[in-house]
Amino acid sequence: MNLATRLFIVIGFGASVATTGLLVYTYNMTKNDTYHQLERESDSIYNFLMAARRVGQKQFLDSGIELTDKTVGFLPAHSLPRVSEEFSKNWDHRGIVIRTSSDRPRNPRNIVNNYEQLAMDWFRENDRSDNKNSKYIVRGAKKFFYARPIWVVKSCLKCHGAREDAPTTIRERYSEAYDYEIGELRGVVSISTPTEEISGSIIKSFLPRFGILFGSFLLVIFLVNQMVQKFIVHSNQNRDD
Ligand code: HEC
Repeated sequence: MNLATRLFIVIGFGASVATTGLLVYTYNMTKNDTYHQLERESDSIYNFLMAARRVGQKQFLDSGIELTDKTVGFLPAHSLPRVSEEFSKNWDHRGIVIRTSSDRPRNPRNIVNNYEQLAMDWFRENDRSDNKNSKYIVRGAKKFFYARPIWVVKSCLKCHGAREDAPTTIRERYSEAYDYEIGELRGVVSISTPTEEISGSIIKSFLPRFGILFGSFLLVIFLVNQMVQKFIVHSNQNRDD
């Protein structure tokens, strides 16, 4: 094997290793970016939900509307889970599921799933109710799972404290989710994004970066080849003369 070929192989091998390294690094970076972006989106959805809940609750209570079987549907606790369902079904085409759930649900539809139960266990063990920013995140094989804790504060006790103190409609309509105390974990808000959606966006942002890196690799190989041909092959030829 002559010097030119050997040099080309060595440099080509070096460039391949470097490019592969860069590709792996870029892929991981793109993946992390996508997950961070997803976390920020989930933060926004959660914040919006909390704002809607707070305003809805306040407007209902301030309006003086009597809480009856007919008006209980206006309570945000009642309407927001339905808004979330409607969002997943008809408004979001990415398969995002938003839930408000509890391991001691008042409405059986709000029972925790496995992920949400783990999140509740985690918050109970590791978190305090005065921590406003805590979240529990799993980058699972099937979904990106994001959860925030719901702690009991004083205003909740009106409907989640002693059953006999609750408004008549609540007392008569619901048999569960009473006797909570301030600072207890009531449930979680969870936002799940399916993995196919995530892989799709990772690939979409990775492909252009892949193209640039691979193009640069080909260019380097081409230039190296040119140089080897020009300097080594030529100088060998000169020596032969
Ligand atoms: C005016 C009464 C009322 C108040 C005040 C109230 N809730 Fe509720 N809450 C309800 C009702 C009714 C439901 C069941 C809604 C349904 O049928 O889907 C519910 C459901 C929930 C759920 C969903 C899980 C489940 O049990 O079905 C959570 C979580 C929750 N409430 C947390 C809270 C927290 C935290 C507070 C205080 C910040 C609070 N609630 C204040 C009436 C109330």
